[in-house]
Amino acid sequence: MSVNISQRINELKEIILEHDYQYYILAEPKISDQEYDLLIKELEKLESDYPDLITKDSPTQRVGKDLTSDFKPVIHKVPMLSLANTYNEEELFDFDRRVHDGLKKDDIIEYVVEPKIDGASVSINYVNGLLKTAATRGDGVVGEEITINVKTIKSIPLRLINYKAYKYKLNDFEVRGEIFINIEDFKKLNEEREKEGAKLFANPRNSSAGTLKLHDPKIVAKRPLNIFLYFLISTEEEFNSQIENLGLLKKLGFNVNPEHRLCKNIYEVIEACHILEKKRETLKYEIDGAVIKVNSIHQQKQLGSIAKSPRWAVAFKFKAKQATSKLKRVTWQVGRTGTLTPVAELNPVILSGSTISRATLHNYDEIKRKDIHYEDTVILEKGGDVIPKIVAIVLDKRVINSIPVEPPEFCPVCKSKLYKLDDEVAFYCENVECPAQIKGRLQHFVSRGAMDIEGLGESLINLLVEKNFLHTFSDIYELKDRRSELIAIERLGERSIDNLLNSIEESKKQPFHKLLYAIGIRYVGSGAAKKLAEYFLSIDKIIEATENEISSINEIGPRISQSVKSFFNQKENLEIISKLKDYGLNFQSGIKIIKTNFFINKTFVLTGTLKNFSREEAGDRIIQLGGKILSSISKKANYLIAGENAGSKLDRAISLGVDILDENKFTNLLKEASNNND
Ligand code: IVH
Repeated sequence: MSVNISQRINELKEIILEHDYQYYILAEPKISDQEYDLLIKELEKLESDYPDLITKDSPTQRVGKDLTSDFKPVIHKVPMLSLANTYNEEELFDFDRRVHDGLKKDDIIEYVVEPKIDGASVSINYVNGLLKTAATRGDGVVGEEITINVKTIKSIPLRLINYKAYKYKLNDFEVRGEIFINIEDFKKLNEEREKEGAKLFANPRNSSAGTLKLHDPKIVAKRPLNIFLYFLISTEEEFNSQIENLGLLKKLGFNVNPEHRLCKNIYEVIEACHILEKKRETLKYEIDGAVIKVNSIHQQKQLGSIAKSPRWAVAFKFKAKQATSKLKRVTWQVGRTGTLTPVAELNPVILSGSTISRATLHNYDEIKRKDIHYEDTVILEKGGDVIPKIVAIVLDKRVINSIPVEPPEFCPVCKSKLYKLDDEVAFYCENVECPAQIKGRLQHFVSRGAMDIEGLGESLINLLVEKNFLHTFSDIYELKDRRSELIAIERLGERSIDNLLNSIEESKKQPFHKLLYAIGIRYVGSGAAKKLAEYFLSIDKIIEATENEISSINEIGPRISQSVKSFFNQKENLEIISKLKDYGLNFQSGIKIIKTNFFINKTFVLTGTLKNFSREEAGDRIIQLGGKILSSISKKANYLIAGENAGSKLDRAISLGVDILDENKFTNLLKEASNNND
């Protein structure tokens, strides 16, 4: 009996696998959705009766039941490089010349041109034909493990068809590609989010990257993610060419973008890039350029890479899409720190498939520089954001006697008088009680990079501020005592309030650096918050620190240190911090257990160019090992790490008697220390 059951389960898995391939990869379904559902239901029933027979590669196991609390770091076996950009034909010729210079004189060089998909890159490891792990790119060296989320994507096979049937050994290999969302699906997703009052995704790329980092695979499974694979690597195989690898990926059951082309020389490459650029309008997904790769893997290896990008590949970026419209009005938005940002209100126009009716004007200086008048005809471009920017004015179309745009004298929200610092471009509303600032601070506090409180979107914050539930950050953590009052508000269902209260409780676990960013100290972005948290380890130490001590940290300048000091000099801010502490928020960096090593508790200054790291990477490694980075040489520094062309810092270190490490010594010390800490 059980043998029959197990046979039937295997048979169902095979059949479903084949239909997934037909549907998701070939887009040629052979059965109806209902027939497919029946197969899945039959499998689910058998597996629930015989749970011992469930295997990881079963199509019923795509969506895991558990939530992930964090994504584990994964060191990429082969670093995930990024590409240098080219913007015109001349730069493509330069690339071709560099490739020829790097290879033997008579070598025949072919290129593959592929669309540059605007999504999030991922690396997936298959062992013995089964999907084992998947990871984000991260910084290219270390990514995050997102296997449970990647498994929900139906076009990614959990098991490979016939992986033993090829001339290459494919027992353990990695595929890399781009996870993306179709433009139409992206629009629908944003429409739904708008209805729910959730923050809109800026572009399809952000929506894919954001989805992959969600903690609940059930939500990920509902998002229409797709993938194109463009890379096959294995440490146990030498492959022949990129074009052959694309074919092999396809045969193995992966989705490979069909728009790739093999080119015999750079002229064909240029032609292929132009063809792709034209085709861009008709594609269902966003592409922002073409990727040009040397076809021969042997030649790729000979060419190698510099810093973070290969010498054998380059991106050709397409021109940004443009549209023209007419400026109707300018509204001045008040941000969380009181800064006023002018926003152009435009006659609606379609750009890259979405209707645009607003564009950012950045600040008043920008308006003056571009000499923008009301009723002007403007040229719009979409950058990386939802809100496009005005790149130019069509002066020929200027209306006679039109009025130049001027900033307001009073805050459009609280009507207090605005002020402007001489050395800054922005106008400020100084009233910290301005409702726009209160709402802005709360929105920032709950945002994804900060406390990540799901369900507390812009419209709900506005409502709760207006109804006097929320004023400062600590009020958020008091909402749980007002559950019934919240439920009584029209529009807010019991379930959504409970979900919200849960995610508020969850947010208490956010790490210290995110909380430090969330409290919204002017100029302290997420990067600076991380640096401060890593250096001082607790809020109390930051409060006690002198301005000099703060600005001695690498990449923390006087503007930030002044702002940090003035923030903590305000009694109201200390009171809020104290309340948040009482609610159990995390004002200390997690204690990392770092084994004794050379770097621990020592201070370093970096200078010059390092061959194998950017300075940022070198700094991160030192911090991970318990060392500290200073921005300038003083007696406090224990070591100067000097790369090539080190300048005045080296001289100063010598005169102060600070020990100097060259890149070789530094790399050896790193290796030694990392081995100890594995
Ligand atoms: S190849 C060493 N091929 O563009 C080669 N990348 O800056 C690195 N991308 O991080 C990648 N489409 O996320 C390659 N057909 C394609 C691509 C592609 C999109 C992305 C990828 C990468 C970035 C390069």
